[in-house]
Amino acid sequence: MKIMRTPFVISCFLFLCSVSTVLFAQNVRKSWTLEDDWKFSKGTQEEAYAMDFDDDDWEEVTVPHDWAIYGPFDESHDLQIVAVTQNGEKVATKKTGRTGGLPYMGVGWYRRTFEVPDFDPDGQRVKLIFDGAMSEAQVYVNGEKVGFWPYGYNTFYFDVTDFLNADGSLNQLAVRLENKEQSSRWYPGAGLYRNVHVLVTPKTHVPVWGTFVTTPYVSEAYASVNIKTELEQVAEGTDVSIETLILDVKGEVVARKENVQRLNHGRPLEQFLTVDNPHMWSPETPYLYFAKSVISIDGKKVDAFTTRFGIRKIDFIADKGFFLNGQRRKFQGVNLHHDLGPLGAAVNRSAIKRQLQLMKDMGADAIRTSHNMPAPELVELCDEMGLMVMVESFDEWDVAKCKNGYHRFFDEWAEKDLVNMVRHYRNNPSVVMWSIGNEVPTQCSADGYKVAKFLQDICHREDPTRLVTAGMDRISCVLDNGFAAMIDVTGFNYRTHRYQEGYEKLPHSLVLGSETGSTVSSRGVYHFPVEKVAQVIHEDQQSSAYGLEYCSWSNLPEDDFALAEDYDWTLGQFVWTGFDYLGEPTPYDTDAWPNHSSMFGIVDLAGIPKDRYYLYKSVWKPEEETLHILPHWNWEGREGEQTPVFVYTNYPSAELFINGKSQGKKTKNKEGNLQERYRLMWMDVVYEPGEVKVIAYDDNGNKAAEKLLHTAGKAHHIKLIPEKEKVSVDGKELAFVRVQVVDKKGRVCPTDQRSLSFTVEGAGNFKAVANGDPTSLELFHKPHMRVFNGQLTLIVSPENVGAIQLKATGKGLKKGEVTIDAY
Ligand code: GAL
Repeated sequence: MKIMRTPFVISCFLFLCSVSTVLFAQNVRKSWTLEDDWKFSKGTQEEAYAMDFDDDDWEEVTVPHDWAIYGPFDESHDLQIVAVTQNGEKVATKKTGRTGGLPYMGVGWYRRTFEVPDFDPDGQRVKLIFDGAMSEAQVYVNGEKVGFWPYGYNTFYFDVTDFLNADGSLNQLAVRLENKEQSSRWYPGAGLYRNVHVLVTPKTHVPVWGTFVTTPYVSEAYASVNIKTELEQVAEGTDVSIETLILDVKGEVVARKENVQRLNHGRPLEQFLTVDNPHMWSPETPYLYFAKSVISIDGKKVDAFTTRFGIRKIDFIADKGFFLNGQRRKFQGVNLHHDLGPLGAAVNRSAIKRQLQLMKDMGADAIRTSHNMPAPELVELCDEMGLMVMVESFDEWDVAKCKNGYHRFFDEWAEKDLVNMVRHYRNNPSVVMWSIGNEVPTQCSADGYKVAKFLQDICHREDPTRLVTAGMDRISCVLDNGFAAMIDVTGFNYRTHRYQEGYEKLPHSLVLGSETGSTVSSRGVYHFPVEKVAQVIHEDQQSSAYGLEYCSWSNLPEDDFALAEDYDWTLGQFVWTGFDYLGEPTPYDTDAWPNHSSMFGIVDLAGIPKDRYYLYKSVWKPEEETLHILPHWNWEGREGEQTPVFVYTNYPSAELFINGKSQGKKTKNKEGNLQERYRLMWMDVVYEPGEVKVIAYDDNGNKAAEKLLHTAGKAHHIKLIPEKEKVSVDGKELAFVRVQVVDKKGRVCPTDQRSLSFTVEGAGNFKAVANGDPTSLELFHKPHMRVFNGQLTLIVSPENVGAIQLKATGKGLKKGEVTIDAY
């Protein structure tokens, strides 16, 4: 029986923002990134911190840089002989490709010089900010050690003012990184893979992450905006004048406040401003505001700071769910690892944007940054594009999952890491929840709830406006030992059959699918017979794209769709995963080389959607037409054999025709099994080459849409399809181009696996290529690769304004050519 409880309502009104560096009036503060002119070398070289160390023969690199993505792939890289206990394993076996088979381990050094123009050691403070460095970073300036930060995913900074040359001459920066073997369950990347910033401020200044903007009251009529501003290097009792303007996206001032406040007892400056008729932030309306403060003492301006934020209101209401701006919604979320496939972990804003856009186009409205702090670019883009974010911190606490994992640092560093995470992102309106951990083994310790409380309290202290969750997979443990009850939002990973129990037994009366699905598939690969099956291994070391294969601990998409639809108290889900990622090639992870990338993705490693993409879209974006047919129709040798056809559509029913012969009309069936509720499936179709036609019908039985699929003819030429016709030469944007082997009529040849070569001429350079095949050992940065089932993705970097000419050739094919404009 369900126990009724007082509604647990926490209203997280919010706000805010982030950004940080950049900008600011009258050159009061300056910030720039250190990208070019780095020298890099692998190897211990323990003297490399020294000023006079000779790095002449080191490699020249640009940061962000991932030293391991260039390969080669090799089974011996970080070969782990382990039992993955969270997957139920008891005996240690050879785990191949677990961290991607890439050489991420070892020590690597980065060196470069930098200058602080017009440096005034008495009147300025200088900080070095690392968005993330993989890992165990030791930072040296002018031969002296400035600091250490072990966690490779977090942003950290050091005040280096006192280490700089006082005369303003060039400073020597050296960074030592070390990745131990068995430190990860997936490919972590290696090196200075995120940006490094120099921030110069006046001596009295707003520190890094020194503002906190919240919206304690939000209505359609007005929002109250609270801004707390810290100030460093200023005496207690000083009278400080602060003028704050709130600007909308057009730059118009919508609120203004100026007053003089006395700094007492370490309290920050605090102001309340009112914005009338606020535009509220949501995934559909990602509206942003800017709070611009100027701080003066004795009539003299000392610093100026701008914080980007949003106005929105979030509520978690017991029994009723999650509400954004007063409207209930279920999270239609995906988990994302941080690697960008062929680009590795090296951050690239346009590559992240492309991933997020593909997710949004599918109807996703949320991202979980599994299982660590994201790149700042991701959170900024989510603010701008409209995606809610669960920012996650750890995959391990004090109890190990990996021999050299984060547990080595947990006691000393967990609080520092969480503080940085929360302060960094507490002003970003996209962030709606903090996650303190994923499937941490600590969840089954008798005292595990104390660790959870310790971490949750830190989040609440640093940000009283957001709730905290954790992904839990040991449901019996956490229901029995008080661990789940301790945490604000109950996040279950898989175990959909335990949701009801969690709802009934836990105080908050809400359950989130913090990790769902883990359906496995390879793009364009179909196995027969077609059946729902867990943990199946096929000879070709691929999983079937019919989308019916999953893991012993996981499930198919339908289970999660139904839970979201059928119960108010479910909060929705975060699917494992939006994209394939490097490492964790389940179910081909035990002595199964060459598999080295995941098969969980809805989209493959090349950024090409698998069939499942359209299943999610049909449910998550019902307002837009989806009519997708699978499998392909090139089954030479299967003539006369049963070859099921599935259709993913937002329409309730459809009729299938093979070469004009009706195979009957199917209607989604709420009463049938869960697959029949969401997919239209013709299981008895007998293969004959030719034409597959689907006619979809709407709720009134009227014809709504039609789709054709044909058996492709002989491979004839190569088609290059740029995702965008123009790309900017800002040094960051990349052009992504779909490459297809097609027949005379331009139809993809879905079984073609031949090798292609690429040349890029004119205003751009070849950057990388990926085919999405989890068993492919071809290197991403060489201009040739096999297509995987007829397709791959080419990545080009624009260098100058002008035309970029791309050419692809392959044996027996007419070459493909296309031009992209770089502006
Ligand atoms: C979960 C885990 C994820 C990933 C996934 C694969 O248990 O949290 O990181 O390993 O399983 O299904």
